Amino acid sequence: MCGIVGYIGHRDAYPVVLKGLQRLEYRGYDSAGIALFDGAELKMSKTKGKVADLKSRLESEISTNGTVGLGHTRWATHGEPNDVNSHPHYSNSGDLVIIHNGIIENYDALKKELKKRGYTFKSDTDTEVLVNLIEDVIKEEGVKLGKAVQIALNQTVGAYAIAVFNKTKPDEIVVARLGSPLAIGVGEDEFFVASDASPFIEFTNNAIYLEDGEMAVIRRNKGVKVRKIKDDTLVDPYIQELQLNLEQIEKGGFDHFMLKEIHEQPNAISDTYRGRMLVEQGLIRMAGVDDNMERIANAKRFIIVACGTSWHAGLVAEYILEDLARIPVEVEYASEFRYRNPIITENDVVIAISQSGETADTMAAIKLAKEKGAFVFGVCNVVGSSISRETNAGAYTHAGPEIGVASTKAFTTQITVLTLMALKLGKFKGTISISDFQFHLQEMERIPEKVKQALKSDALIQEIADKYKDATNCLYLGRGYNFPVALEGALKLKEISYIHAEGYPAAEMKHGPIALIDEQMPVVVIATKKGHYEKVVSNIQEIKSRKGKIIAIVTEGDEEVRELADYVVEVPETIESLTPLLTTIPLQLLSYHIAVMLGKNVDQPRNLAKSVTVE
Ligand code: F6R
Repeated sequence: MCGIVGYIGHRDAYPVVLKGLQRLEYRGYDSAGIALFDGAELKMSKTKGKVADLKSRLESEISTNGTVGLGHTRWATHGEPNDVNSHPHYSNSGDLVIIHNGIIENYDALKKELKKRGYTFKSDTDTEVLVNLIEDVIKEEGVKLGKAVQIALNQTVGAYAIAVFNKTKPDEIVVARLGSPLAIGVGEDEFFVASDASPFIEFTNNAIYLEDGEMAVIRRNKGVKVRKIKDDTLVDPYIQELQLNLEQIEKGGFDHFMLKEIHEQPNAISDTYRGRMLVEQGLIRMAGVDDNMERIANAKRFIIVACGTSWHAGLVAEYILEDLARIPVEVEYASEFRYRNPIITENDVVIAISQSGETADTMAAIKLAKEKGAFVFGVCNVVGSSISRETNAGAYTHAGPEIGVASTKAFTTQITVLTLMALKLGKFKGTISISDFQFHLQEMERIPEKVKQALKSDALIQEIADKYKDATNCLYLGRGYNFPVALEGALKLKEISYIHAEGYPAAEMKHGPIALIDEQMPVVVIATKKGHYEKVVSNIQEIKSRKGKIIAIVTEGDEEVRELADYVVEVPETIESLTPLLTTIPLQLLSYHIAVMLGKNVDQPRNLAKSVTVE
């Protein structure tokens, strides 16, 4: 949560920082602010609201000159989202300025101590406490900014990615991270700081990703010195060459990132299996699995930990892994798992799924599992993310940047990776026949075309969206592999259109939710031919006889459900385990169109942020 951006170099910092903030707005958009140093004066402008609000305010408030800048886009934790609580924050003297992503948990005790020493505070934030603590260390111990940051951080408990600037030493920015991501872009005599690489990708492909517990002093024209915050050890920074390009992080003609990302799924899925699935040779290559085959295939149990949409992908994977690899699977909310003293043994393999690779609860679950001796396999999208580095092995989804806050292509590509893993394990263990294995590969190869086919239902879905956009509740039902898809469809609708929606296993409806059904209630039912079809048709009958409105997702050519449903959306036929890759498409489109019709901010729904780096 929260996005931070910094620049020090030879060009104007303002446009770099402003654009960077716009790219990081997916991380939070409660407030935004920028501080600039023009060689003489440190100026700041900040406001509640979005980066667009900041732009107009800043340009009328301060001059935009300066080759040093720090910017912040906030997802509020401590203190309500108002102008005063917005970042950056000055120290009492006005010499230091800080931006911070994370939470300083012991801020209250530190604040009391600083107050006793005469410090005053304008905001309710933990961040203002930190910048004054740093100032206090400089004053009391007579040390430079880097050392002061280090001493101050060693007194804090919590999580942070920070950047601090001292106007009396204007050729350096000091940054540090623990639990929140921080990348340093290394250009020609210029440096960038950001929560991810998107703010600086058009200027440089070279980046240093700080590890947890590291800090760096970045000196204009001089370079970057990285050291451990705890024990001061110098670290030789690894400069990574990024594969990201500008096009991937722009909208490419679509109205919203979410729509672009929905339409990217055919390519995203093939990018996920490309190079891994060798259909003609009847092979799946996944380095993270190949290198640890004995450990993974001999697991007594898989425990999947994830949050939100990634957790739904985990539920689909439960069906696939148990079915194909015959290894028992438990799927856990990372946030519950980490706090309930779970039974984990060395024979368990924990699979952590995370698009961002930064989700705090998933990270904590991984650490717990590792402590107890389990082997942890990560499925992440963001290359070099904290989770991908913390796990023992893993597989990237290669979906490309997902910027819309509502996850779409992450879900389908996570399922793709986990399906490949299940097939590979099944083949290795002999729990799936060679012909079945081969058939799955062939069918997987057809999925991108079939997703394209499913995307063609867009016009029909707009009609359905228009019809039901004013509903206040909506039910989503599915069975087997499509039960998690029902949960995912409901989550998508809730988060971007703010319509209350529930996902249920279709057969559970009669144990309670059926009481909700009346002529006002739209019920989205996934009723594909493969998998419990007849039973789902009976559920549809039950809804119909109570006058519920039925929107059915069916296999191409289905006539039976067409007779019963108010609307029928067809998806191409495939094998049952792969149906989630298709049935999820109309549900993503439905939530998208309803949200657009209701005038909601699709890419930045209220109260949400893309990566949840606080628990
Ligand atoms: C829903 C959504 C969230 C995320 C969840 C986990 O559309 O985006 O529910 O799925 O916050 O995030 P990651 O996958 O980054 O760990």
